Amino acid sequence: MTAAASDTPALPMTRPAGCPYDPPAEYGALGTADPTSQVRCPAGMDAWLVTRYADVRAVLADPTMSSRGAASVHVTRRAGLDEPVRPGSIIQLDGEPHSRLRKMVLAQFTVRRVEALRTYIQDLVENHLDAMLARPGEADLVRDFALPIPSLVICQLLGVPYADRERFQQQSSLLVSTDATREQGQQAYDELAGFLAGLFADKQQNPQDDLFSRMIARGAATGDPLSLEELVMLGLSLLVAGHETTANMIALSTLVLLEHPEQRDAVLAAPARAVEELLRYLSVVQFGVLRHATEDVQVGDRAVKAGEWLVAALNSANRDEELFPAADELDFHRESPRAHVAFGYGAHQCIGQQLARVELQEALTRLFRRVPDLRLAVPRESLGFKHNTLVYGVRELPIAWG
Ligand code: HEM
Repeated sequence: MTAAASDTPALPMTRPAGCPYDPPAEYGALGTADPTSQVRCPAGMDAWLVTRYADVRAVLADPTMSSRGAASVHVTRRAGLDEPVRPGSIIQLDGEPHSRLRKMVLAQFTVRRVEALRTYIQDLVENHLDAMLARPGEADLVRDFALPIPSLVICQLLGVPYADRERFQQQSSLLVSTDATREQGQQAYDELAGFLAGLFADKQQNPQDDLFSRMIARGAATGDPLSLEELVMLGLSLLVAGHETTANMIALSTLVLLEHPEQRDAVLAAPARAVEELLRYLSVVQFGVLRHATEDVQVGDRAVKAGEWLVAALNSANRDEELFPAADELDFHRESPRAHVAFGYGAHQCIGQQLARVELQEALTRLFRRVPDLRLAVPRESLGFKHNTLVYGVRELPIAWG
């Protein structure tokens, strides 16, 4: 890309303080002037910020777009974009190495398997509500509900001991932080990778009824085993993606519903539809996903050259008025509620989306049924929002009832 003028807008742009659920105000202005405009990234390169829904889908569906910088390393200072992609890094691999891995993982995420987890998730939600409500009327919804539920579910699914949660929760918050230095990111990766390597070595000897033991067994049976390096990287991706995103969605959705009490009945009446609208409205993968053009390509009105970077702005696409009339409104009665791109689109579309949906549906409906008088215990203005993490959310959510 030609050297950008000094007035090139810089990422990351943060969400407006007045409405912390909206995309950055600058996205709207840029998008109106030019739906694919140039931005400067902290990782050191310039990229095309793609804001229009149709263009975002076209970029994500294009097989000539490489994912080697995915999901959002453009906004981190530890990007390492010149380094080779690590084997097993499902989100960053392209072509055949990606589809080989994706097929193996998808085989474990069938609708049947996820539905089988629903009863486990329901019990988990109820047990956490029992524990929370046994206390004298106040709690931090993040610590006591939103974070432990997806963490326990992903541990159960992958066969990771929940007792180790503090280690992986700390490392994964560093991995999704835009403020972490390259050294901090590397250290978090090394620690998590070391922990998982030990776990998988054990599973090879003592297989259990969990996703990784099944993948190891399947590899042995089909003559296409995953190396330890692949298993570790895949484990890391699933562990981080599997709890950070859903935990932030549960807490942020609760906050939105506390602010819109008139909408809660719609959530309880049709949870599946409501969860889709919350996913669209909140778009927690807040800095979008990065792609690298391997060929010259036309994106909307913009001619993009091979070698250039693009940021598919999922939050902007999810507020595109062409597809979502009154896009800035939370509306649980929209037509085509699943048309959003909060889970991405195309070859890398989220593998855990069914699981995330079940977790969100069960967590939100059970919370508001059991605690109809739930309220925020502090003014909204005093809440800390995660403007500096790849996955948007709220740091703490003090709540009260009774
Ligand atoms: C509300 C919750 C979630 C959101 C918003 C979300 C969002 C996303 C997005 C936007 C992508 C596409 C990245 C790209 O195209 O570069 C993605 C991919 C992925 N997600 Fe999720 N995710 C969620 C939950 C989960 C869960 C629960 C898991 C695992 C259990 C998971 C595992 C993955 C994996 C493995 C990929 C990479 C797929 C591939 O590259 O083929 N996600 N997710």
